[in-house]
Amino acid sequence: MSVVENKVVLEVADLRKVYPSPVRGGEPVVAVDSVSLEVLEGECLAVVGESGSGKSTVAKCVVGLESPTVGALRVAGSARLRAPRGRRERVRWASEAQYVFQDPYSSLNPRQNVEDVIGTSVAIHHPGLSPEERRRHVDGLLSDVGLGDGFAQRLPHELSGGQRQRVAIARALASDPALLILDEAVAALDVSIQAQILNLLADIREQRTISYLFITHDLAVVNQIADRVIVMEQGRVVERGRTEDVLRSPQEEYTRTLLAAVPREGWTPRRRERLAASL
Ligand SMILES: Nc1ncnc2c1ncn2[C@@H]1O[C@H](COP(=O)(O)OP(=O)(O)OP(=O)(O)O)[C@@H](O)[C@H]1O
Ligand SMILES: [Mg+2]
Repeated sequence: MSVVENKVVLEVADLRKVYPSPVRGGEPVVAVDSVSLEVLEGECLAVVGESGSGKSTVAKCVVGLESPTVGALRVAGSARLRAPRGRRERVRWASEAQYVFQDPYSSLNPRQNVEDVIGTSVAIHHPGLSPEERRRHVDGLLSDVGLGDGFAQRLPHELSGGQRQRVAIARALASDPALLILDEAVAALDVSIQAQILNLLADIREQRTISYLFITHDLAVVNQIADRVIVMEQGRVVERGRTEDVLRSPQEEYTRTLLAAVPREGWTPRRRERLAASL
């Protein structure tokens, strides 16, 4: 793991995001409350927390899919104070941070083959390439994510879930981003495919200068990929530290509860324990 000394790729300071109430006259929803975090160059920071704790909202603010109510964001050294304006700024933002979603099927155009999906992104971020050079670039990206030339002409529905996620990762890499946000990116895959994608992400991090913001509700995968972890509960960061410290000796009851849900050697599901106690 190549963490370069203290160069900050993502800086989030006192981020707050409030949504209007979903019901008329109701209370506004505070999705994110005073969240601060940093991701260093070459580092993987995991963001964990149960459903609704605000993980995706933080990520959406980083890439400009949502704008913060309060707070400051810096990505690759430049401030993000509002949504990007104009094509040039959007392209620059996209080259700084890319977002990979849980379900690549919904983010891939069903009528575009793999070469077009990745080629479109290559064309945006490397506008000087000839069609032949672009094709070679696409082939290079496919090989970086473990897919051979045979995949270039396939449509999304002709791919497995793991292969689709590889295509989504290749498309994200086409912009040479400083930061890759992986939002539950392995959650929909079964365990052996999950392991393959986690290995792929580790390999990519060895080969490129790239940082990850790795969002998951599953602490079992955090151990395999993250250098540091922050734990979110109801929009706030309740615990943070090096992965091994947080997993080995969590300081917060909330983190212990999340950990108790992770299957491991000698693990007994909580619910069964409670059942046994009530018999
Ligand atoms: N567009 C929106 N409008 C109103 N409320 C929203 C909106 N998006 C998210 N929220 C609310 O903000 C809170 C945080 O949502 P968020 O999607 O960030 O959680 P999450 O930690 O990513 O959850 P999950 O693990 O289920 O993806 C939730 O209470 C959610 O209902
Ligand atoms: Mg989410």
